[in-house]
Formats: sequence, structure tokens, C-alpha cells
Amino acid sequence: MKQAYTEAYFKASADYVLEKAGFAPEIGVILGSGLSPLGEAVENAIEIPYADIPNYLVSTVQGHAGKLILGTVAGKKVVCMSGRFHTYEGYDPEELTAPIRLFKLLGCKAAVVTNAAGGVNTDYKPGDIMIISDHIKLMGDSPMRGRNVDEFGPRFFDVSKMYTPELREIARRLGKDSGLTIHEGCYFFMTGPQFETPAEIRAIRILGGDAVGMSTVTEALTAAHCGLPFLGLSVITNMAAGILDQPLGHTEVIETANAIRDRLTAYVKAIIAEI
Ligand code: HPA
Repeated sequence: MKQAYTEAYFKASADYVLEKAGFAPEIGVILGSGLSPLGEAVENAIEIPYADIPNYLVSTVQGHAGKLILGTVAGKKVVCMSGRFHTYEGYDPEELTAPIRLFKLLGCKAAVVTNAAGGVNTDYKPGDIMIISDHIKLMGDSPMRGRNVDEFGPRFFDVSKMYTPELREIARRLGKDSGLTIHEGCYFFMTGPQFETPAEIRAIRILGGDAVGMSTVTEALTAAHCGLPFLGLSVITNMAAGILDQPLGHTEVIETANAIRDRLTAYVKAIIAEI
């Protein structure tokens, strides 16, 4: 029988995490491919493997550690997901609501999410950051498909300010002193796991995408549904397919992420301090 995703189902995860951690975090952080160094910067860290958490998921991607890290960053109590869940791993879309619903039930007041993305806008370069202002998702079911869980939010919900303007303003302002090149633009979701074809990238550019990636939108939608302020940051790890005459691979994604890791960690820490 299909799992009933009730509030109690998600609360079992939250109760376990609160008991293990002994405190309630204020900010939830999700770290994308090769972007886990921030997890190492958590002070007084308590680590909880995903596999130990009731009704939680297990991540399967190389470069994703698969644990919650709870502790302090820049004086704020945080819960960090080192390793995230993607549609292409085969989860059903409703399962992908688990991380953000966990943050909400733990008492977080904001979520900060990073991802690796391909640059579609030709003004972008590998190593640049894009503050996500909006997204386009034409493929893949909504994570809110199925019976609505009224405790989290209404059946029909507004997504016009899903990427919270006040958090984007903080990210823009702190971006100036970050030593990183910061853009703001539209994230185009593709289900993957294959990278895109050059024709798809041309289409995405015409449709208004500035960067392309395989994550984050289910989390942003879940946050909008339960009213959790949300900030999404894309690391442009490569130019999208067909822009440069070279094949794409996960190694390039990880290498670019590594090259900016210290500046990105400092930038995300500064943002967390201000939220
Ligand atoms: N396409 C989709 N997802 C990605 C890419 C890309 O080029 N780079 C990193 N994640």
C-alpha cells in the first residue's frame, strides 16, 4: 500500500532529531554536490546519519555524505543536511518533502540551500554564484501531488515569492564583499540524471533559464507550501551543454565546487549570521 504522508509521519523524524540534538535549530541548510565543506564548519557538531532517522530517506550520490549535522554556525543554531535527495534517485515526489518538513517541524525560521548548476546565461562563468530569484519546472510532479497535508499548508498555494525577497537582499548585499562573482537569475529544473542536450540548453535559454540543475525546486516548493522563508544559491560549476566544445562530467562539477569552497563557506556563514 502507498505510504500515507501525514504530519505524524514527518513528526516521527523531527522527534528523533530533537531528542538526539537536545536543541531546536533556527536555520536549516542543505548543501549540494561537492559543497559540503560548510558542514565541517559547524561548531559543537552532533552528527545523525540519515539511516538512523525514522521515516527519513537515504542519499545515493557520490560526493553526498548522507547525514544531518546540528550545531552552531556564526552564532546561530543550525541543522545542516550534508547530502540531499534528488528526483533522479527514484524517490517519489511526496517523499522529497521530508527534508523541508523536518526543518519546519524542528522549528527553523528559514532554509538556505546550495546547489551545483550549469551556466546557461553566457555572461556566467564557472565558479560564479547565482542567487535564485525564481525557477521554471516543466517536468516532474509537484512534491505536493497527492492528498494535501493541511497541517503544513493549503491545497492551492502561492509561489510568486517562493525565493524570499528579504533573504535575496541579504545575499546580494553580502555578495559584494565575498570575493565571489554574484548574479541573480532563474533556475531551470531538469530531472536528469543525464546532463542536457545542446538543443535543450538552447530551448532553456529562450524560455528564460539562466542556470540549469537537477535539485532545489522540490525543496523550494515544499518551503512555499509550509511558509518557510527560502534562499537558494547556485554554484555555476560548468557551462551548460553545447556552450563549450567539451563533454560534461561530475568530476568537473566537483572540481569547480572545490576551487571556491573557502569563499563560498565564508559567504554562506555571513548570510547565516544575518538571518
Ligand atoms: N546541468 C544540470 N545539472 C547540473 C549541471 C548541468 O550542466 N551542472 C551541475 N549540475
